[in-house]
Amino acid sequence: MSDSLQTHPVLVVDYGAQYAQLIARRVREAKVYSEVVPHTMSVAEMLAKEPAAVILSGGPSSVYADDAPGLDGALLEAGVPVFGMCYGFQAMAQALGGEVSRTGLREYGATPATVTDRTSTLFNGQPTEQSVWMSHGDSVTVAPDGMTVTATTAGAPVAAIEDDSRRLYGVQWHPEVMHSTFGQQVLENFLHRGAGIPADWTPGNVIEDQVNAIREQIGDAAVICGLSGGVDSSVAAALVQRAVGDQLTCVFVDHGLLREGEAEQVEMDFVAATGVRLVTVDARETFLGALAGVSDPEEKRKIIGREFIRTFEQAARDIVGHGAQDGHPVEFLVQGTLYPDVVESGGGAGTANIKSHHNVGGLPDDLQFKLVEPLRALFKDEVRAIGRELGVPEEIVARQPFPGPGLGIRIIGEVTEDRLATLRRADAIAREELTKAGLDNEIWQCPVVLLADVRSVGVQGDGRTYGHPIVLRPVSSEDAMTADWTRVPYDVLAQISTRITNEVDEVNRVVLDVTSKPPGTIEWE
Ligand code: XMP
Repeated sequence: MSDSLQTHPVLVVDYGAQYAQLIARRVREAKVYSEVVPHTMSVAEMLAKEPAAVILSGGPSSVYADDAPGLDGALLEAGVPVFGMCYGFQAMAQALGGEVSRTGLREYGATPATVTDRTSTLFNGQPTEQSVWMSHGDSVTVAPDGMTVTATTAGAPVAAIEDDSRRLYGVQWHPEVMHSTFGQQVLENFLHRGAGIPADWTPGNVIEDQVNAIREQIGDAAVICGLSGGVDSSVAAALVQRAVGDQLTCVFVDHGLLREGEAEQVEMDFVAATGVRLVTVDARETFLGALAGVSDPEEKRKIIGREFIRTFEQAARDIVGHGAQDGHPVEFLVQGTLYPDVVESGGGAGTANIKSHHNVGGLPDDLQFKLVEPLRALFKDEVRAIGRELGVPEEIVARQPFPGPGLGIRIIGEVTEDRLATLRRADAIAREELTKAGLDNEIWQCPVVLLADVRSVGVQGDGRTYGHPIVLRPVSSEDAMTADWTRVPYDVLAQISTRITNEVDEVNRVVLDVTSKPPGTIEWE
């Protein structure tokens, strides 16, 4: 990938305040490729990545704290444009010889700021008065030599500093959060005007880049992709198909833990739109047999993961056996690993670090395939944009995330065929009503959970019932790392509840989960 768009990333140095991923997303919204790196990475390692610019994120610490993460001044002398935000701004000011003091003037939340130079690189084209999101105790009281102060607030006399000759910039606030009214413009001014980076990281260009990289990696070998019907595997498959066409065979394992209509969606919609070669394996009996008597969530995940790989490897052998690949052995396996999984598992771009949780139970050590992971630099919304550009049907691209172990981890208790049928029906009703109410964009995903080991008393018609509760877990989120419960209108909830209790035998109660993440996870298991 010598001339790839990813060759000169904007590095976002993570000082540990959970803002780094958000900054990386904002940079990409400016059509510039970015990567998050830990603050423990040495300057030499950073420079080895030949970054187009470096952004220093905010952090929880005071620069005076004993364990305050450091900033090696060498980074500021390397000729690379640098933008410090919040903690990163203070660390930068200090490293350049400015003064950071405990003024006692803390600022937290939306704060009015005054721009003192509207023609500056950062503030060009913006109003003098802005609202900025602050979160600081210490303040920069004296700007470093050679740096111009271009904004102030009541509690921060030096709220923004700029030096075009060294291409060093900083703001005391968080431009990446929505509450900073011109935050995105400040960031884009840094990227495009300050650092001179073009806005060319677009879905079309990313596809072209990846297609070239995939061709180079795969050559004329055969490749298989496990399709789940979800966004990630579908878009990954479409991308690989664009790159190597017929060398790709997709395998869809029906493990019996799918939702209503899922198998059909893969078989009809995806194949119709892409013309991809698809092999469907009916492994329902095997999976249910292996899950019999198991209630522990991690045990379930392990079993499902193991059976999945077994089924998959057998399917791969069958494909070759039937000569579908013109005698070429299947060397590669496509995985829809996304960037947050890579960051969360501590890997950077280029490492083969996979968080088992986000794949179907993880991959075995003796995996006989080499991995192709065309989405490992992307966030979910970026994957969707690329899917649309590739012509993947909207029904698939817009789908909410669904975990690999499927309904298996949404039945609290043992997984049986009857329980699956109950949950499948309730889930289909909830999905139908939420879609009808136009809530699909507001809701990140809505697990529907069957409390199979719980019964409660109810009354239906003239009779007493002793049925199971169904839990609705609608959440709003940007990336599933944190989430809040979605305030679904009462009448929509009422409609879902009425229909489920009327139409699904065995269920006599519908309850709503009103827990954010943290402390609750999105799934119940
Ligand atoms: P949690 O429950 O950890 O979920 O808040 C975060 C996101 O990950 C999905 N999830 C999984 N995906 N295999 C998957 O492929 C799994 O075992 C798994 N567990 C949770 C979950 O649906 C949510 O989107």
